[in-house]
Amino acid sequence: MDRLQRKPIIVANWKMHKSIASSIEFVHALAPKITVPSTQVFIAPSFTALHAVAAAAKPYPAITVGAQNMYAAAEGAYTGEVSGIQLVDAGAQFVILGHSERRKLCKETDQFINEKVKIALLSKLIPILCVGESFDERKAGKSEEVVGEQLKKCLNDITSVQGRGTIIAYEPVWAIGTNCAATPPMVQEMHQFCRDWLIRHWGDEAANKVHLIYGGSVKPDNALSLMQQKDVDGLLVGGASLAVESFSEIVNFDLGET
Ligand code: 13P
Repeated sequence: MDRLQRKPIIVANWKMHKSIASSIEFVHALAPKITVPSTQVFIAPSFTALHAVAAAAKPYPAITVGAQNMYAAAEGAYTGEVSGIQLVDAGAQFVILGHSERRKLCKETDQFINEKVKIALLSKLIPILCVGESFDERKAGKSEEVVGEQLKKCLNDITSVQGRGTIIAYEPVWAIGTNCAATPPMVQEMHQFCRDWLIRHWGDEAANKVHLIYGGSVKPDNALSLMQQKDVDGLLVGGASLAVESFSEIVNFDLGET
């Protein structure tokens, strides 16, 4: 399967932004602006808006709604946490896991993220597993080593069949919220590394079906050059996903004949 058969996925990670009303308003304003039929738009609102946003997006097949996190258990005494089953109940179809903000702020480990990926898959949620190196790790030439280790631990004990549908997001920590995106060749190099890692662990066929998406200061002016890379199958957008104008420009990138 080549790049053209992996339909682009553009994800809006709204992080801790937007009210229920403004989230719904966004969906209705965005939908008519999506002009590229092959692109799937994923929106990850706050938990509080998830159910309402999923209902608002129902008439729009191009929009899929999901969550920014979940807990690594099906149910139980976990005050303040949300399970995969509850996310599905609220209308979620995917869940972002292992975001570097959660790794840093909530001290999430690869082992814990691995448990979440497994439960997400059992709950029939598409996991978007985030990996990426810090600035110091890149400077030390350790990007591949770090990302390889994250993939190994976060996908531990998950076969290609069990992991079907999983999306990997390469989000270098130093590029998030800094206005300093990784360059397209840098991103291609890391995505190629992730693809090769997946080929070694899951085999050619399964690995070539995995969407590898990039996140970190994606803006309307760099979306196309990132998407032109052979192993970039989509984008994970933070800040620029908060306004319909900038996000719709990113969603409507045009690969043309390239
Ligand atoms: P920015 O697009 O704001 O850099 O955030 C990226 C991100 O963390 C998406 O998950």
